[in-house]
Amino acid sequence: MADQNVYPPSPDFVKRACVQGMEGYRELYQQAESQPEQFWGALAERELSWSRQWSHVFEWNPPFVRWFVDGKINVSYNCLDRHLATHRKNKVAILWEGEPGDQRMISYQELHRLVCRFANVLKNRGLKTGDRAIIYMGMVPELPVAMLACARLGITFSVVFGGFSAEALKARIQDLEAQIVITCDGAWRRGKEVRLKQTVDEAVADCPTVREIIVHKRTGGDVPMQAGRDFWWSDLEAGTSESCPAEELDSEHPLYVLYTSGTTGKPKGIVHTTGGYLLGVHMTTKWVFDLRDEDTYWCTADIGWVTGHSYIVFGPLSNGATSVMYEGAPDYPQPDRFWRIIEKYRINIFYTSPTAIRAFIRQGDQWPNRHDMSSLRVLGSVGEPINPAAWEWYYKTIGRERCPIVDTWWQTETGAIMISPLPGAVPCKPGSASLPLPGILADVVDLQGNPVGTNREGFLIVRRPWPSMFRTLWKDPKRYEEQYWQRIEGVYMTGDAARRDEDGYFWVLGRVDDVMNVSGHRLSTMELESALVRHPAVAEAAVVGKPHEITGQAVAAFVTLKAGNWDHRDLAEDLRRWVAHEIGSFAKPEQIRFTDALPKTRSGKIMRRLLREIVTSNAVAGDVTTLEDLSVVTRLSAQHDDES
Ligand code: WTA
Repeated sequence: MADQNVYPPSPDFVKRACVQGMEGYRELYQQAESQPEQFWGALAERELSWSRQWSHVFEWNPPFVRWFVDGKINVSYNCLDRHLATHRKNKVAILWEGEPGDQRMISYQELHRLVCRFANVLKNRGLKTGDRAIIYMGMVPELPVAMLACARLGITFSVVFGGFSAEALKARIQDLEAQIVITCDGAWRRGKEVRLKQTVDEAVADCPTVREIIVHKRTGGDVPMQAGRDFWWSDLEAGTSESCPAEELDSEHPLYVLYTSGTTGKPKGIVHTTGGYLLGVHMTTKWVFDLRDEDTYWCTADIGWVTGHSYIVFGPLSNGATSVMYEGAPDYPQPDRFWRIIEKYRINIFYTSPTAIRAFIRQGDQWPNRHDMSSLRVLGSVGEPINPAAWEWYYKTIGRERCPIVDTWWQTETGAIMISPLPGAVPCKPGSASLPLPGILADVVDLQGNPVGTNREGFLIVRRPWPSMFRTLWKDPKRYEEQYWQRIEGVYMTGDAARRDEDGYFWVLGRVDDVMNVSGHRLSTMELESALVRHPAVAEAAVVGKPHEITGQAVAAFVTLKAGNWDHRDLAEDLRRWVAHEIGSFAKPEQIRFTDALPKTRSGKIMRRLLREIVTSNAVAGDVTTLEDLSVVTRLSAQHDDES
């Protein structure tokens, strides 16, 4: 580790930073650690607008926590109304660019109007606090409008990523028992229309709780509308009032549920609530991105994932920032679309994923080099470990060696960034997410919960509750308790492995459970396997993550077939389409290998570790139809004890 490059912030950066130097960071961290109630209480009071003061800062009945107990607050009010009395009222809140090149610049006043009108639409449809909405839209401004309108009324919403299939959408609607689905006719992606409304129609055929579907017109494609059930957004909005008071909601009111992959076949509904979540995303946006009022800030995530919720919508808007939103693909019409956007809008803060960065490296430096990106001040990375080579490229080619890179480690469950350099304080080491943020008591431990010591690998855990943490799993508190809090008694188990170096820096090494990370998207081994075995030809399937140069990991599937005369080449293609149908195109296996048997323990557990070794070490890449006989491995491995 001794020859590791270290990049401290420049003295100029430190001078103007929101948290200045290591002393600044240490002081904050120490305050939060020694007096969490005072620390978070003072921030909540100073940074957010409450309609009723809380009685306690937090109440911890492990593993359940409540923050700002008895306090009343509204997220939509904090993201909109309170800015209207300030110089920000005409500031651009959402700066949007569509894939075809159209633009919208929506000021805080205008966004407030749009949100109030749509909240009135929802009210007029009979929706009220405690009801649930599914939002299945492309990256258009109406998506945050719908989220903020729900938040305004206390309608718990769940945004489903537009890449999910009808089957996946249906499972989420059913689990949430949503009364309404908000969607678009379609979305633009690489010049083609993704037909969202059609997918919704397929999904709701089996969803008796859904009374109505509201459709925002984006592409103008032909969509059938079912009378009495489907309504155009613009029709419902016509003539509605532009004023709609924000409901005074309990600090623990569920703001949203976001489904994510776990270790079983069924996605988990991560529940985030109101006051603590908002404080978490508000503070981390300020600290980690060193956000200033004059900044133009761009997070390239899709709002269908947690990063978009916390760092396109709630964190930036609560801070009164200008948040950029781009609708389409990074390489459309050419590989320099992102750099064009940075140049055009003079972006100051740019937050993207290692997968995107690695794809840019492959496309070549001529694309970024053609653009003036001197406006950039802070760069960020999220979703997966960033390899040092990609980090260095990002630093040199995009940041021109001027911009600190914040490698932010966090999860859907944590709600907000947990481990990351503060750009004006903590020196960066390429590949390390560095140090935990104030209030985050992270550690690396063994299965007994004992710290493993310097430079040893172990489980990444968090010891104390933090404001933005998820509160439970939707309709499944038992799974919440078992999965996250009981593996190692009393601490939050992240599911990641990590090591801490001699400076206390965290190096996140990847998942320790059956969750894969493909392009920063979480995919569950079990979910993929159950999707595959639903196919009529498949007897058994085992799925593992295979290292991939661009996407970090790729899906490799081992499949045994039912008796029959199958054409493997056709079948591999068919199975890929099947996975796209069951989950979504982004989950398609890159490699499908047919085999006569799978390696199993005596108790019948598939030994995925062995399969992982096979896909990592042998070089049959490219050939997806290899027929292999794993029965040898099976026989060998059955002689071992039941290890998994
Ligand atoms: C991984 C995304 C290393 C990790 C915000 C985590 C990371 C999972 C990083 C959560 C990072 C995210 N370095 N690994 N900076 N950020 N991860 O829920 O394995 O989609 O557990 O949340 O992504 O993915 P999720």
